Amino acid sequence: MADYGFNTVQVRGGYSAKDNQESVAVPVYATAAFDFGTVERADRLVAGVEAGFVYTRIGNPTNDVLERRIAALDHGVAAVSFGSGMAAISSTILAVTGGSGRILSTYQIYGGAFDLEKSIFPNLGIHFDLVSHDSSIEEWERAITPDTKAIYVESISNPSARLLDFEELAKLAHRYDIPLIVDNTFATPYLFQPLEHGADIVVYSATKALNGHGNAIGGLVVEGTPFRWKKETYPQFYQKHWVIRDLEGKERSFLEAFPEFPLTALLRLSYLAYFGAVLSPYEAQLILIGVETLSERVKKQVENTRAVLSYLQEQSDLVSWVSYPEAKDSPDQELAKKYFKNGAGSVLSFGFNGTEEEENRLIETVKIFGYQANVGDARSLIVNSPKITHGELNPEELKEADIAPETVRLSFGLEEASDLIADLEQAFAAIRAERENVRKSA
Ligand SMILES: Cc1ncc(COP(=O)(O)O)c(C=O)c1O
Repeated sequence: MADYGFNTVQVRGGYSAKDNQESVAVPVYATAAFDFGTVERADRLVAGVEAGFVYTRIGNPTNDVLERRIAALDHGVAAVSFGSGMAAISSTILAVTGGSGRILSTYQIYGGAFDLEKSIFPNLGIHFDLVSHDSSIEEWERAITPDTKAIYVESISNPSARLLDFEELAKLAHRYDIPLIVDNTFATPYLFQPLEHGADIVVYSATKALNGHGNAIGGLVVEGTPFRWKKETYPQFYQKHWVIRDLEGKERSFLEAFPEFPLTALLRLSYLAYFGAVLSPYEAQLILIGVETLSERVKKQVENTRAVLSYLQEQSDLVSWVSYPEAKDSPDQELAKKYFKNGAGSVLSFGFNGTEEEENRLIETVKIFGYQANVGDARSLIVNSPKITHGELNPEELKEADIAPETVRLSFGLEEASDLIADLEQAFAAIRAERENVRKSA
């Protein structure tokens, strides 16, 4: 599909009806295993000489369409799906570090990923060095150690929608022969394609805008033009394995057996296969249906975000600040112009200027915005991030991550912008009326 545009690839990429009984929709291959047919074919499949499916924990034709489609949308060479975004992230970090070393990242990432870095990985010998989105490239460079094996960032950070200079970060990573890994969940390949700006690996929570309908949990890892994994730092790509032997029974390394996509092969044949966090083909199909309308949904969601952004910026009695790259005092305006010409996603955060009780009232008084720990849904959502999506961060960490206690995060869906504004307005009006009552009775 390399010659086709984004909209064509999102509905057709990676699928051939001819190879699927002329089925127009991508079928769900609801099967655990695939028949080998002959012993000779089994040997060929195991040796990777013949492409084909063996067992759904390692690969499935429905998931395969999703993987090929997202790889094509991101201009990657290959992709592998997982049962959740967290499975995609943790497997990628394990595969890239090979189980030891350091990752350079920022405080401004999803709370679950932050806690994974803080509470789980150090016990497994993988440590994280954290800088801030406001750190200069020199500060990033100073945080690189001889043991650093990758840089890991979010393209649009959760929850504050902060951006980074990705090309500068990629150059820095490559100067030290380490890959840049980008979680592109909030942006989706429609708004931003990290591989086109120097990143080497892209990870997704497909649960969010890729799927867009809040009805499935899934994750993906996309590999760009294979990174040049140096043998001293990344021996896992050079180690010979019996499981990927050739037809003569000679052990091979992942780089020998799969030179075009060694990371994808390592992820699939080791981490997906043995940790087993596989995406169900039923959910792969739901995500594929979502992807078919990705560009149209995201366009409308960005439109809604911009409309509500303007509204919020005028509510200075109840809104003390708005964090979105296109907000009037955002430090990321130039980065938004450089990297996010079609909008910087459909999530923004604002500082609620009031008491905790008033903030709770706001969350409970809005009628359209759902109170959920999710984003990218067709329905608009509201959440008090410091307590919920970033509840894993202690008060000092929240401070480092620049997530103020009064932060409220909004994710915009596909409703009418005027209805979303009216919904916030009626909740704000209720809070203003109550303040007025208190003032009068004082
Ligand atoms: C930016 C980001 N990455 C990854 C994840 C984890 O994805 P999942 O919930 O699919 O495991 C989330 C979840 O909220 C997220 O916001």
